[in-house]
Amino acid sequence: MKIIDGKALAVQMQADLKVKVEKLSEKGVVPGLVVILLGEDPASQVYVRNKERTAQRLGINSKVVRLPDQTSESELLALIDQYNQDEQWNGILVQLPLPAHISEEKVLLAIDPKKDVDGFHPMNMGRLWAGNPVMVPSTPAGIMAMFKHYDVDLSGKRAVVIGRSNIVGKPIAQLMMMANATVTIAHSRSKNLSELTKAADILVVAIGVAKFVTADMVKKGAVVIDVGMDRDENGKLCGDVDFDSVKEVASLITPVPGGVGPMTITMLMEQTIRSAEMSEN
Ligand code: GUN
Repeated sequence: MKIIDGKALAVQMQADLKVKVEKLSEKGVVPGLVVILLGEDPASQVYVRNKERTAQRLGINSKVVRLPDQTSESELLALIDQYNQDEQWNGILVQLPLPAHISEEKVLLAIDPKKDVDGFHPMNMGRLWAGNPVMVPSTPAGIMAMFKHYDVDLSGKRAVVIGRSNIVGKPIAQLMMMANATVTIAHSRSKNLSELTKAADILVVAIGVAKFVTADMVKKGAVVIDVGMDRDENGKLCGDVDFDSVKEVASLITPVPGGVGPMTITMLMEQTIRSAEMSEN
């Protein structure tokens, strides 16, 4: 068993990205990322702070707009439009989840697809499913980068995804299919889940339940990617995979923390930089 060191790979990739930002900045193109956060959700606040810090460290112009929970939908849409028009911002990200009175669909549709660094706009989701991705959600992009770095060849392999979200499950399934894997998307209502997971050469888990995947559900030698960010019975950060037991069965496995998380933020930065490069042309 080998542990996939997402942290180390993220550090390495971010060093390359920093150089890229320097080169772009010399040409007068400074990538700019604006993050909009509504309300006080503690997890969202941590994510947003990390995005801001990483962007600053790489030389990306970064701005966080913190708005009260009660902000109206029309105010938010007007703000998005303002950043759509403003050329210094080539990445716009609205942190999810949004308060219940705001339509996520309307908000995602309002972001200029060219600035949609999350890849959540239906146009970008459609492009991905059509096989011509432009902006790709960061977590799946980070997982694909880990496969590449660790020489995981997906072609002809059986890949199983547990979780069907627009943020992770669906896009990672499509990216693995584009890499010629045979992909199954399972979820909380899937029957005989173990039967599916035990057949997987590659298992990606994004179900949001602490230590949900146990060793008996995993094929010997499988590659296991854990997208979870959960708390165990003692309040300690853990993933959707029972790492201690599954690591004895897997050939490669991501830890939590230090696996997928650092890669997600790295890919968001990469996409912001790419958006700046595209705006240049
Ligand atoms: N909430 C949880 N993950 C994400 C993400 O990747 N992007 C945004 N905008 N919100 C999130």
